[in-house]
Parts: sequence; structure tokens; C-alpha cells
Amino acid sequence: SVAASVITIDGPAASGKSSIARLVAQRLGRTYVNTGNMYRAMTWAVLQAGVDPKNADAVRAAAADVVIESPVVEGKIQICISGRTLTDAELNSDLVNRAVSLIASVGEVRDRLVADQRALAATGPLVMEGRDIGSVVFPDSPHKIYIDASEEVRASRRGAQGLTDQIAERDRMDKERKNSPLVIPAGAIVIDNSHITLEEAVDQVIAALQLT
Ligand code: CDP
Ligand code: CDP
Ligand code: CDP
Repeated sequence: SVAASVITIDGPAASGKSSIARLVAQRLGRTYVNTGNMYRAMTWAVLQAGVDPKNADAVRAAAADVVIESPVVEGKIQICISGRTLTDAELNSDLVNRAVSLIASVGEVRDRLVADQRALAATGPLVMEGRDIGSVVFPDSPHKIYIDASEEVRASRRGAQGLTDQIAERDRMDKERKNSPLVIPAGAIVIDNSHITLEEAVDQVIAALQLT
């Protein structure tokens, strides 16, 4: 059904996906799911275990031991590792930014998190945002959006947040990887928000979805 179907939002780093997805979910009364935070939490746990993120076998072994939960609390998803909710500072740290694309390229890590993401659809109507939500997680969704912005604009937006982040390098790895690379999903509506405000982008997404 339209009401139950997941609105998928994908796009490159710092394109505005999370801000737009959060506001779209708020307007439509849906739960907002940031899947990047799931990959970030897994990365945080693997680094905490002292594992070299370049060593895929060691990453696989460490990730298998991680207890990750994503409960819905007051219409928002929380990410807990071994029962502890990670802070935004932990999820967005420099160390996590540098390692997350390596961890997210490991097929076994993706299989687990994708299963968790699909299970969340049973909790109610969602807006889910990431890199492969329209292409791999919910390919049958009739409501797919791809958010883009120029590399210049994305770098300056991330810089304005006071965060160090090699977004060009992360995008390259996310687009070139074998497992679930970042693509414009078949059937997705592309919205470039380089030169519009957040509110204008949200309006465009809601209009494009034609929900009524
Ligand atoms: O917010 P930002 O766009 O910088 O990144 P994010 O959405 O938090 O995602 C962090 C990283 O997780 C991405 O660079 C991808 O490597 C990975 N990711 C993924 O592989 N698949 C997803 N569905 C979401 C994130
Ligand atoms: O989730 P993602 O990394 O794609 O981007 P974000 O964290 O939602 O957005 C990065 C920054 O750009 C935030 O500070 C947004 O408020 C800002 N932004 C903006 O100024 N204008 C837009 N049209 C979209 C996002
Ligand atoms: O059937 P219902 O609409 O209640 O929900 P569901 O079967 O749990 O599917 C929820 C969302 O997953 C919808 O957006 C479906 O379009 C999507 N879906 C998908 O894209 N591919 C699948 N293989 C299964 C579900």
C-alpha cells in the first residue's frame, strides 16, 4: 500500500539527505531512518575493537561480534552498540569518517544492516535515507528520491558544520565499490539542491512524491 511503502532517499555525502529526509518525515508523520548512522555505529565498534579497517577479514570477524540495535524511540531511530546509544560526536568523528566507507564495502556487514533496515518497515511508515535504499534495500518502492548537489556546495556545507570530512574520497569509494554502489536508483526522481534552501528542497520532494 502507498501508506506502508517506504520513501527512499539516496545521494552523495553532504548533499542534504539527512536534513531533507528528517523534515519530510516530520511533515508526513513518518519515522525517519538514517542508515548512514548504522554504518557509522558499526565502524565505531570495529575501531573500538582495535581492528585495522583495511583488513576485511578482521573487520568481518569483529563485526560479527558487534551487538547493534536500532529501536524506534519517539518517531526517531536510535542506534545502540551493546546497549549504549552512541552520541552524534561519536558517530561523526574524524576517525569514523575516515574508516566508514571501508567498513561499508564489506558484504557481510551490509547483509546484516540491510536485514535490520527491511525489518524496520514493519514498525510503520518510514522515510529511509542512505546510499542503496532505493536500489537494494527497497527496490520495489514507488517513492524514490535521489538528492544531489555540486561537489563545491557539498564541501562548503560540510565545512560550515565545522567537520573535517574527505567527502570526495568517500564518494569515490561508495560509487566504485562492488557491493551496492551509490547509483541513481531505477525510477528515482533526482532533485539537485545546490542552489535552493532546505525548505525549498523539502517542498520539491513532497511535490515530486505525489502522495495523494
Ligand atoms: O551524512 P553523510 O552523507 O556524510 O554520510 P552517511 O549517510 O552518514 O554515510 C556514511 C557512510 O556510510 C557512507 O559514506 C557510506 O560508505 C556508508 N553508507 C552505505 O554504504 N550505505 C548506506 N545505506 C548508508 C551509508
Ligand atoms: O545527510 P547529508 O550528509 O547528505 O547532508 P546534511 O547533513 O543533511 O546537510 C549538510 C548541511 O547542509 C547541513 O548543515 C544542512 O543544513 C545544509 N543544507 C543547506 O544549507 N541547504 C540545503 N538545501 C541542504 C542542506
Ligand atoms: O506490504 P506492505 O506495503 O505492508 O509492506 P512491506 O511488504 O513490508 O514493504 C514495505 C516496503 O518495502 C514497501 O515500500 C515496498 O515497496 C518495499 N519492498 C521492496 O521494495 N522490495 C521488496 N522485495 C519488498 C518490499
